[in-house]
Amino acid sequence: MNARLQARQADITTLALDAIVNAANSTLLGGGGVDGAIHRAAGPELLAECRDLGGCPTGEARITGGHRLPARHVIHTVGPVWHGGADGEAELLASCYRRSLEIAAGHGLRSIAFPCISTGVYGYPSDEAAQVAVSTVRSTLARLPGIEQVVFCCFSADDLARYEILLADPS
Ligand code: AR6
Repeated sequence: MNARLQARQADITTLALDAIVNAANSTLLGGGGVDGAIHRAAGPELLAECRDLGGCPTGEARITGGHRLPARHVIHTVGPVWHGGADGEAELLASCYRRSLEIAAGHGLRSIAFPCISTGVYGYPSDEAAQVAVSTVRSTLARLPGIEQVVFCCFSADDLARYEILLADPS
């Protein structure tokens, strides 16, 4: 199962996979961080497609084409804003990873990359977020055999180190 999971330090907009995941906001109309980078690289056609989606609740996900990206699709998910941890943040963050994988599998996609959802502007602590990400992806993949490759796309060396430790632990 671990062969299906890997961490990589990269700009997610450069990855030529079936899908990359965007850490969006509930309007799906773009923003800063990884969202801004994805919209810049995908071109205005992505924003036009997002406009027709009518937004997305926190913890849910929506799929679009990749347009000018090397990735074939973008799966837009809306992570929780960190309010201290007692506001359902962990369950909502887990839901982002689970729903993104379910949508990918539902479209017959085999490879997908995630950024570190909610850990930038939304303030989720990086260690806790990485634990939620790895445990949720592991448990969800157990019932989605069609997904062959999941990349945790880390922007920073610190995040890469975090994920490598978690992925080395089989528990
Ligand atoms: N490739 C991979 N990871 C990246 C990239 C990139 N090109 N750029 C940034 N990151 P953030 P959030 C990392 O703030 O916390 C937007 O305005 C970054 O280092 O992008 O979920 C949306 O519109 C961090 O580890 O997303 C929302 O309003 C991670 O991506 C809001 O920000 C997430 O940071 C969402 O906030």
